[in-house]
Amino acid sequence: MVTGASSGTGRDIAIALAEDGCDIGVLGRRTDALEETARRIRALGRRACVLTADVSDEQSIEAAVEVFLAWSGGRADVLVNAAGVTGPLGPKVGELSAADFDAVMATNLRGPFLTMSRLLPVMCRQGSGRVVNIGGTHGMRGRAGRAGYASSKWALRGLTRSAALEVGAHGVTANVVAPGAIAVERMRDRWAAQALEQGVSEEVVRERYTASLGMALNRTNETADVVATVRFLVGEGGRNITGQEIVVDGGVIV
Ligand SMILES: NC(=O)c1ccc[n+]([C@@H]2O[C@H](COP(=O)([O-])OP(=O)(O)OC[C@H]3O[C@@H](n4cnc5c(N)ncnc54)[C@H](OP(=O)(O)O)[C@@H]3O)[C@@H](O)[C@H]2O)c1
Repeated sequence: MVTGASSGTGRDIAIALAEDGCDIGVLGRRTDALEETARRIRALGRRACVLTADVSDEQSIEAAVEVFLAWSGGRADVLVNAAGVTGPLGPKVGELSAADFDAVMATNLRGPFLTMSRLLPVMCRQGSGRVVNIGGTHGMRGRAGRAGYASSKWALRGLTRSAALEVGAHGVTANVVAPGAIAVERMRDRWAAQALEQGVSEEVVRERYTASLGMALNRTNETADVVATVRFLVGEGGRNITGQEIVVDGGVIV
């Protein structure tokens, strides 16, 4: 099961895992976008199950997991929690509303907690399973104006590490992949707008951006970079890795 499979990184992970031979339950709130991901998975000759659900809503996840397990014959080999929101960017603690703080925590932390709560027991009974939670580098350091988002990604590490200790004896792993800013559509649009504004090429905007971050590799993070790391963790390479965070950010946090 891949959450957040209706767009961005989650969608690309779902399609890559289908390429690797997995049948996939794709979860998100937008059925149309999920149907499109499912269509691409089926075009690869794999099965896909569309699960329209809100990860922050316990009943919604309970119902989706029930549908998923009926479809999968009771198996859950891989869970990737990629659904996430940034919440408001900018307001400092003192300006950020409690409702906005709760909303980002509900999707980014409660969501993975709910899917793991339902699927880890299944994996433990099977004696195998891989969980990959998509965190972020804001869960490795503080960031002014992003306290809610950063808190959710820090907390996700605690959830993942604790679960890893609980389920390891059953042959189940749980890890975090922590990307830096990914060049998803949203970022590309922002760079295109800045290029227009500043009268320079998009390439120059990107170079300025990576330079401003002090990035060792000086190249932007593509979803493909995150996808490759998830593939590694759910494949042979991840067999003996659990409770870890792998930072995929081109070498900002070093
Ligand atoms: N983009 C970045 O620069 C970046 C950097 C570091 C980490 N990340 C993390 O990477 C993950 C994917 O981010 P992205 O930017 O690639 O994704 P995105 O394009 O913004 O898509 C977010 C996904 O999360 C789903 N989602 C959001 N709220 C949900 C909810 N309540 N219930 C179910 N699904 C929900 C959305 O589906 P629906 O709209 O259909 O519900 C969508 O599929 C997130 O966890 C994000 O925090 C991203």
